[in-house]
Order: sequence, then C-alpha cells, then structure tokens
Amino acid sequence: MKIGVLKETQKGENRVAISPNIAKLLVSKGFELLVEENAGMASSFKNSDYDSVGASIKNRDVIFKESNVLIKINPFTEEDLKLVQKGQILMSQLYYLSNPELIKAIAETGATAFSMDAMPRISRAQDMDVLSSQSNLAGYKAVIVGANEMTRIFPLMMTAAGTIIPSKVLIYGIGVAGLQAIATAKRLGAVVMATDIRTETKEQAESLGAKFISVDNTGEQSEGGYAKEASEDYARRQKEAVNKSLFEADLVITTAMVPGRKAPVLITEEQVKQMKNGAVIIDLAAAQGGNVEVSEMDKTVVKHGVKIIGSTMAPVSVSTNASELYAKNMYNFLMHLTENNQFKWELEEEITDGTLIVQEGKIRKN
Ligand code: NAI
Repeated sequence: MKIGVLKETQKGENRVAISPNIAKLLVSKGFELLVEENAGMASSFKNSDYDSVGASIKNRDVIFKESNVLIKINPFTEEDLKLVQKGQILMSQLYYLSNPELIKAIAETGATAFSMDAMPRISRAQDMDVLSSQSNLAGYKAVIVGANEMTRIFPLMMTAAGTIIPSKVLIYGIGVAGLQAIATAKRLGAVVMATDIRTETKEQAESLGAKFISVDNTGEQSEGGYAKEASEDYARRQKEAVNKSLFEADLVITTAMVPGRKAPVLITEEQVKQMKNGAVIIDLAAAQGGNVEVSEMDKTVVKHGVKIIGSTMAPVSVSTNASELYAKNMYNFLMHLTENNQFKWELEEEITDGTLIVQEGKIRKN
C-alpha cells in the first residue's frame, strides 16, 4: 500500500504528518512511503532524513496520482480535492462538525475520509488522539510564551536586593492543555489556580499543585469526557467565583472548548478592565472564536493595560515535537485499521465508526 505524505499548505503551518522515525517504522511494516518534497523542512526534517529510511521523495502531482492513502494534518483544501481520485483514502483533521461544505466536497470526489479530530475519547484510542498530543504541547508553550511576555518572573526569589513574590497564573479549562499548563507553570515556580466546568478535574488540578476554583455546576452536563455548552447561569456563577483570582492574576491561560461549537466567552471586556495592569492572557481557544471577548486570532492586542494573545500557533511553534507526536498517532491509527498492509476495518468498531466521515463518496456523519 502506498502512503502519500503531503506538505502542509496552510499559512504558518510548520508541522508534517509523518516524521522520519515513523516513516522508518511504516516502511519496516511493508508500507511504501511517498513524501512530498520538503514536506518536513519546517519541522527540521530534511528530504534525506526520509530518503535514508526508505521513503521516496516525490512531487505533489505524483503523490496525488500514485498514493492509496493521503495523509495531512490540516483539512484537505479545494486545491487538494481537485487532485484527489475516487477510491483514495484521506486522513487528516477535518473538523467535520464545523466544515459541512468540505465534507460534501470530499464526498463528491468519491474518496473515503477519516477525521483524526473525531477520535473517540476512550482509553484504547489515547495513543491515536491527535487533539491530545497537540494540546499537550499547546499547554506547555502557552506558559512559555506567557512567561516571555510578562514583565515579571514566575518564582519566589529572595535576594540581597529584596524578595520577589511569585507570579499568579490562572487557568480556565483543565483538559489536556490546561493540565500541561498547570504542570509547566508550577515547575517554573508560579502560584497556580485553575477552574473547569467538569468537577472531576478538581482532583487532577490539585494533584499537580494547583488550587481549584470550584463553581457550582448544578444543571450542567458533560458527554464522553467533553464539556457541553454552559448555561448563562453557569457563566454568571463562574464569574462570581473566579473574578477575585482573575483580577489578581499575572498570567491567564484559557483553553475551554466545546466540540463543534464556538468556544465559550469566559472573560468579557468588562472583566479585562479590572485586571492588573501588565497582565497577560493567552487565549488558546482563539481559533474557535476565543474564550476572551476581545482576543483576536493570531494577534496580540493590548486592552486596558492587558496583553491578550489569540494563540493558534502553539503546536506549530514546536513543530519537531508536534510532528513526531502527530506521526506516532497516525502510525497507531494505521496499525489499528490494517492487517498485513491491507485495510481491514469493521464499521461497528468504535474508533473506525467515530473517525470514518466519508465512505466511498457517501457522507456518514455531518
Ligand atoms: P477540550 O479541549 O474540549 O476543553 C478544554 C477544557 O475546557 C475541558 O476540560 C472542558 O471541560 C473545559 N471547559 C469547557 N467549557 C468550559 C466552561 N464554560 N468553563 C470552564 N471550563 C470549560 O478538552 P480536552 O482537553 O480535549 O479534554 C476533555 C476530556 O477528555 C478530559 O477529561 C481528557 O482527560 C479527556 N480525554 C480523554 C482521552 C481518551 O480517553 N482517549 C483523550 C483526550 C482527552
């Protein structure tokens, strides 16, 4: 089976879906790997790194023409779909709930498409979960970017010239990104507070040394480990519980998302006005509309003395690691779907059923 690895074309994207290490593993399993020229360059992987493990470097047209499977990170584009052929199998993040037009366009090609971001949140799918692997890095990088933008340091420091008190970091959303942000900020010596609509996150936050800010979540629901959209009443209760910590925070990281929906606004401009002068907010939900009313995607804005960074680039900025982890997720997924290099999947099986969005031109999920 020929697997084609495409160079990402989205602006600012530095990652690649298959790293040389994983290319080597796939070749050892009998797959033929076709890698687009310079696909790994922005992740610090040279063409020769792929070549030396048995993958072939090809141009874009050849990859589309010859591959049985086409692998990417970002959704297939209109330009890609012009080259996709009936019967090919596409694998990438498709965000199918928010991209019905794309799914229709894929179906019209007669191809089959798996969406990596639709991976069910079950234990045996953990090693195929690209949202987790990338969010983990995003949580880490958000703290590093925040530390760099702040005019203070994180740890307590007692010096002959005086004592520096530790910075206060507040984290909204204790999912994969939030947990890594807590761990990273703690390691750097900050005092960390965190809140989440799901009460089961309290123990996780506390085990990493954060103080959990409880919000009465009576009436709120979650599904499959994910939060559902919160009610207005919950938003009001959350503000009451969190405002004191928000107004004292030096760094705020927001990570709250709800699958298939716009991210909830957790911090209004009115609240930003009351924050400390010089505070920094990193809004990791900026691509989904943002958790901060005044954040702008991929921009830094300063409002009322607070620097607000609408960050979508966190995994991209650590593209070597991000590509390695994404590639390992892809490898595990391919192993799950194949036997002796041939696809062998069952539609009733939960991982296949959850991720298979288009089957031979027919839309299964929208
Ligand atoms: P996410 O990226 O969808 O959301 C981040 C966090 O924001 C979540 O913890 C969510 O509860 C919280 N949130 C949403 N709306 C909120 C609001 N209005 N106020 C405050 N917090 C709000 O979540 P992520 O990181 O993808 O993980 C969700 C859950 O799934 C976690 O429990 C995680 O451990 C679990 N998970 C399980 C996997 C598996 O078993 N294969 C893989 C990945 C995650």
